[in-house]
Amino acid sequence: MTDTAVEYLGAGYFADPFTVHERLRAQRPVAPVIMPGGTPAWLVTGYAEARAALTDPRLRKLPPGWRPEPDSIFGLLEMHMLSSDPPDHERLRKLVNKAFTARRVEQLRPRIASITAGLLDDMSTRREVDLLASFAFPLPVTVICELLGVPVADRDDFRAWSATIVSNTASPAAYQADAIAMIRYFMALLAAKRPEPADDLLSALISARDEEDRLSENELVSMAFLLLVAGHETTVNLIGNGMLALLLNPGELARLRADPSLVGGAVEELLRYVNPVNHATFRFAGEPVEIGGERIGTGEVVLVALSGANRDPSRYADPDRLDLSRDSAGHLAFGHGSHYCLGAPLARLEAEIAFGGLLKRFGSMTLAVPPDALRWRPSTLIHGLEALPVRLVP
Ligand code: HEM
Repeated sequence: MTDTAVEYLGAGYFADPFTVHERLRAQRPVAPVIMPGGTPAWLVTGYAEARAALTDPRLRKLPPGWRPEPDSIFGLLEMHMLSSDPPDHERLRKLVNKAFTARRVEQLRPRIASITAGLLDDMSTRREVDLLASFAFPLPVTVICELLGVPVADRDDFRAWSATIVSNTASPAAYQADAIAMIRYFMALLAAKRPEPADDLLSALISARDEEDRLSENELVSMAFLLLVAGHETTVNLIGNGMLALLLNPGELARLRADPSLVGGAVEELLRYVNPVNHATFRFAGEPVEIGGERIGTGEVVLVALSGANRDPSRYADPDRLDLSRDSAGHLAFGHGSHYCLGAPLARLEAEIAFGGLLKRFGSMTLAVPPDALRWRPSTLIHGLEALPVRLVP
């Protein structure tokens, strides 16, 4: 596999993974690459191949024959549904599924609207803001913290730990320090909640563990970690990258301003176009698999580039054009198959309220720096900006 593998990340990758994926897709939609750190992987950039990979039961979340040490960082932080195969995956997902259905999430609409209105009020006293720090980050973080029962006041701590954990450039020592800080944080939080349960999801999970023993202690910590990180590393980038895409495509922005009822479809096209999550997480071949004509050997790593699949011209005509009126159904921004995003209804609702609120409150919004000056986060998993400075006019 390594004979023909290409170094995957070059200069400019984090700002524009799309061009790299386009080139690879044209040559080989399932291509051998070398990941940062030297790991060989099969990178899937074609749409049909990505769907096939994400639904193939032979591609597993854990390497064949491997089980994490219970006291390792992986054993404490990663015993969650997104790192699990059947039957654990179904058991873990079922425990929280009900809290994230579209109907349950719809009940959060008034609270999400009120958090949004508060953030817009704060922003409206200023001429120039970092839209990420002032809006795109605090909105989903406040929502997920309230849902889980995690103190919002601690957000600066877990934002920093989480950024290190998903980064490709953090040193192993930094990774270890921040992962341990995150584990200690959740252990202390869960210990404090146990004697005084509240009306929140973590309290409900503690009682599921204590009464029915359906979650191990490590699974409980891992579930809290996954929900908190998934709840705030993702929607922030849909709002941030999405607003940037609209600012760079003024015709589409004008169209949405003229007809706010387009917002539902606009969110879908923005998901397809901006790809807040660049890649799905690693899969491992549990046995030999053929995808896109390539033979993938047992134990080999498969990485699905969701952003590659969503810009495949064989699925979406003129894929690099943002077109809010296109039918973007079938996009893979939330993944596909059994690990399809649990939080998709929540992310959609937050984005709909966020874009609707921003455009209604600010009659004009412009980038405060040239697009080339924007910096992107050094992560292959997340596609997101470090900051988005904008000028506002009510
Ligand atoms: C725009 C926002 C979001 C995007 C683009 C996104 C994207 C994704 C993707 C691509 C996956 C599948 C990963 C894979 O197969 O390797 C996933 C899974 C997941 N997401 Fe999201 N997500 C978003 C928001 C959220 C939110 C708000 C939550 C709420 C807690 C959430 C919770 C989860 C969970 C728990 C999983 C694992 C599901 C499983 O393994 O069965 N996500 N997400």
